[in-house]
Amino acid sequence: MTTRPRGELAIKGGPRVRKEPMPPRHLFGEEEKRAVIALFDKSIETGEAFSYNGPEEEAYCKQFAAFLGGGQADAVNSGTSAVYVALRALDIEPFTEVIVPSVSDMGGVMPVPLMNCIPVPADCAPGTYNMGPEQVEKAITERTSAIVVAHIAGTPADLGPILEIARSRGIKVVEDCAQAHGARYNGEYVGTFGDIAAFSTMSGKHHATAAQGGVVYTRNEALYWKSRRCSDRGKPFGLEEAEGNVTCSLNLNLNDLSAVVGMVQLKKLPGMLERIRLVAQKVIDRCEPLQAVSIDQGPPGAESAFWFMVFRLDLDKVSCDLDTFVEALRAEGLPFSAHYTTPFIQHPWFKNRAVFGNSGYPWTCPLYTGDPNRRYELPNWKANNRSLFLIKIHEGMTLREAEDIAEALAKVEAAFLK
Ligand SMILES: Cc1ncc(COP(=O)(O)O)c(C=O)c1O
Repeated sequence: MTTRPRGELAIKGGPRVRKEPMPPRHLFGEEEKRAVIALFDKSIETGEAFSYNGPEEEAYCKQFAAFLGGGQADAVNSGTSAVYVALRALDIEPFTEVIVPSVSDMGGVMPVPLMNCIPVPADCAPGTYNMGPEQVEKAITERTSAIVVAHIAGTPADLGPILEIARSRGIKVVEDCAQAHGARYNGEYVGTFGDIAAFSTMSGKHHATAAQGGVVYTRNEALYWKSRRCSDRGKPFGLEEAEGNVTCSLNLNLNDLSAVVGMVQLKKLPGMLERIRLVAQKVIDRCEPLQAVSIDQGPPGAESAFWFMVFRLDLDKVSCDLDTFVEALRAEGLPFSAHYTTPFIQHPWFKNRAVFGNSGYPWTCPLYTGDPNRRYELPNWKANNRSLFLIKIHEGMTLREAEDIAEALAKVEAAFLK
């Protein structure tokens, strides 16, 4: 592919690269339907309602852990709940600080203040939505108790040095793998590196337990049992001597109905990842000759699961800004987006300290010894926000879609190259 002019841009009235809509996902099929019907049939036949913490959920958890090569999994009702339970299992103290990604889904951040801890953003590393070791280091104080490392876009964060920093200071690490089922770092699945990991299994993800769900995963058996207790109102799972509920928590369980869908989906996951990577690789190969656009594939050792593909526009090489570039791409019929999401520190709930009534807690509680009004500069996020753009890819796409994505990029780049 070269960057020679490729015809009039669609935004200026030229022909579009892609004339038909992108293909749908078809995430759920006959197998999921059969699994659900079989569960209902069994319930009708026996007269026993299916429930939660039942045989199907147990089997799903075992299979999920087996997919990651061992360890233990606790299925919960959302990725947000999974982050909450993972943090609860770590027994972090209230009014300590938890480092979180500056840009992530709110579900990867909000559990922190709900535990009366202070969420502290680590800026993105340059050219990626993920936090990097340098940014983590800058966010650490003597009050830091844990780090939530998210693998945004399904692209692994630079786990090696981040873990080294955390371990050298006794700080716990939660891997937020909500977007990263099947992503690898140095050959191992993400989720297997930190103390504990949280996955989302809602139906927009690579792996789903029907409409919503999540999984807490760990290779530490004590943390697994704590997770079980924290995801089910403190019931004394794993404690032989205990009587009654041992800790205060919520009912965040998954259920057998979602679990049967999850088991079918787990079988499909390797094939789905293969297709997604094939499409992504085609885009990467075809974009190789581009001069102003590059693709974030993560740090050395990273193998992305490409929940979405992240592109970087070198603004010194084009005669337009990011929004104009992405608008031109969209006009070519490809659903690119100019921005992922805004940092949580810009949202009203954070700015207004809207967590516990009007108290301003946890920030304003006298037990918090940090500066409750600390301001955070996120220079790398600001630069990223001017230069990164993205497109969602999925297993319903073929090499034809990859060709169209790459062709649109080449056409728009050629039109704006200085
Ligand atoms: C990084 C991250 N963390 C947490 C969540 C929360 O997951 P859920 O939507 O299943 O609650 C999401 C959801 O997209 C996410 O992307």
